[in-house]
Amino acid sequence: MLKYRKQIFLGQFFKLIEAILELMMPVAMASVIDKGIALGDKSHIFRNVGIMFLLAFVGVCCAMVCQVVATKTSVGMSGEMRREAFEKINSLSAQDLDSIGTNSLVTRMTIDINNLQDAMAMLIRLVIRSPFIMIGSIIMAIILDVKLSLVLLITTPLVSIIMFIILRAVAPKFSALQKSLDLLSRKVNETISGIRVIRAFSREESLVDSFDESSKFYADFALNTGKITSLLSPIVSLCLNMAIIAVLMLGAKRVQLGKIELGIVIAFIEYLIQIFLQTAVVANLVLIYTRAYASAKRVEELMDTKPSVSDKFGIKKGDFIPKGNTSLISFKNVCITYPDGKPALQDISFSLNKGESLGIIGGTGSGKSTLVSLILRFYDTTKGVVKFCGEDIKNIPIEELRKRISFVPQRVSLFKGSVEQNLKLGNNNASKKDMEDALNIAQADFVYELPGGLKYNIEESGRNLSGGQRQRLTIARAILKPFEVIILDDSFSALDLSTESRLRRALKKSLGDRSCIVVSQRISTIMHADNIIVLDNGVCVGMGKHDYLLKHCEIYKELYITQTAGAEYA
Ligand SMILES: Nc1ncnc2c1ncn2[C@@H]1O[C@H](COP(=O)(O)OP(=O)(O)OP(=O)(O)O)[C@@H](O)[C@H]1O
Ligand SMILES: [Mg+2]
Repeated sequence: MLKYRKQIFLGQFFKLIEAILELMMPVAMASVIDKGIALGDKSHIFRNVGIMFLLAFVGVCCAMVCQVVATKTSVGMSGEMRREAFEKINSLSAQDLDSIGTNSLVTRMTIDINNLQDAMAMLIRLVIRSPFIMIGSIIMAIILDVKLSLVLLITTPLVSIIMFIILRAVAPKFSALQKSLDLLSRKVNETISGIRVIRAFSREESLVDSFDESSKFYADFALNTGKITSLLSPIVSLCLNMAIIAVLMLGAKRVQLGKIELGIVIAFIEYLIQIFLQTAVVANLVLIYTRAYASAKRVEELMDTKPSVSDKFGIKKGDFIPKGNTSLISFKNVCITYPDGKPALQDISFSLNKGESLGIIGGTGSGKSTLVSLILRFYDTTKGVVKFCGEDIKNIPIEELRKRISFVPQRVSLFKGSVEQNLKLGNNNASKKDMEDALNIAQADFVYELPGGLKYNIEESGRNLSGGQRQRLTIARAILKPFEVIILDDSFSALDLSTESRLRRALKKSLGDRSCIVVSQRISTIMHADNIIVLDNGVCVGMGKHDYLLKHCEIYKELYITQTAGAEYA
């Protein structure tokens, strides 16, 4: 805010000049009536009308300068805030993002920052101007005629009380209103992304019910505000008309007595209207700032969130020198408990050497994805140490660590854009040949059959591709990235067995002395790995090669029997 003080001052300065000119207008008009029209002095009329035109012209110019300053400053400020908020979100760990919630992040980035943008524009345009005109009108009215000003003694407090009632009824609800918007946007998001499931289960009606419930608060708020304002606006209008009648009656008497002239009465009425008008503007400003305050708190909360996973203090980008003669990745007595208190992994120890492959198998929810997410430091361990090239990963700059690891997450994510753009997310410098090689390894040659090939346009989340096609593209993207180890989290689940087998063979060939971690629920996917970890409920219940596990790990053996129905795999 302090950063924009120059612009705020400049905008307010011009708006103030415009306000002063506006306050002068009724005086010029009174002079036209009393000295020009009443006395038949044409030159006085022309001179004063000319002055009025000049006042209006300079006023419009000042208002335009102020408008430009206000728009530029408020839009510039919100753009900068959005960029900072976006950088902040990027720095937060998966855990931090889980706890704030994706939809709340979206509403903070959009609606809340928009509210602040409005508040900034209003600060420049109206915060000084409206009270100034209001007080200026009262002073001018008193200067014009003290006796007539007695009308203000009754009307001004009355209007203020009415505005106070509106504010008291509406303002305290803004904080809750923003929260209800989070909920509403979550429902919209879930409904749109899950529309197929909802239709397949014919749950549209129940969804509409739940949607209605979430939007009820928002609707009630709008209804209440509408009711209050619609009730009060005729009252305010009635007050104004009564005040005008009072001024006319009192004014007529004073004109008859020759105390004042007609023009003064008309100018007085103009000031009276301004007082009413500006009181309403000030009340509106209070509402805008109450809303902006609630929004500012939410944005501030986001900006103040300290990333739970971050680089160790003082660590610099190039600080990591991998040690030789150590395993590439090692876990020592690793445990992790998610914030809900349930341990997801307990006492996991293993090591993976350069050039070796590791298979991780286990039932749903056994902790496979959690294990691999620890290697990338999406989460930090609760106990135990994860090492990369012999160094505790907490001592390695996160960027350096992730640079060396390629990852295919379990939930496939593709972005709107061409196949090529999506592939280049893995490696921006990849040549056409690199991309073709990666597509070949990932068995993604279907790309060449798509209209435009590499230029084919992928829709949001890759919805115009099949599940298996999406998986293969994300694998190709990961292969393109230069890496020391590649992690594939359940990345073959949508592929048929023969495609999977071809993919595994091609991948193995391309790996050379690089390592590979494959997570799967299918024995066939991991059985050829140099080492296999069997997870059950977050506990490692077996480790070794396929043949060893068949003999010594009951759970592995059971999986094998159920998946092969007794038949041997080729
Ligand atoms: N972000 C999270 N917050 C809280 N709990 C989580 C989170 N992610 C996973 N869990 C819990 O941790 C446990 C292990 O989950 P994980 O995703 O690692 O399982 P998984 O073996 O990969 O399962 P699947 O084969 O279904 O992918 C589960 O009980 C899950 O509910
Ligand atoms: Mg998983």
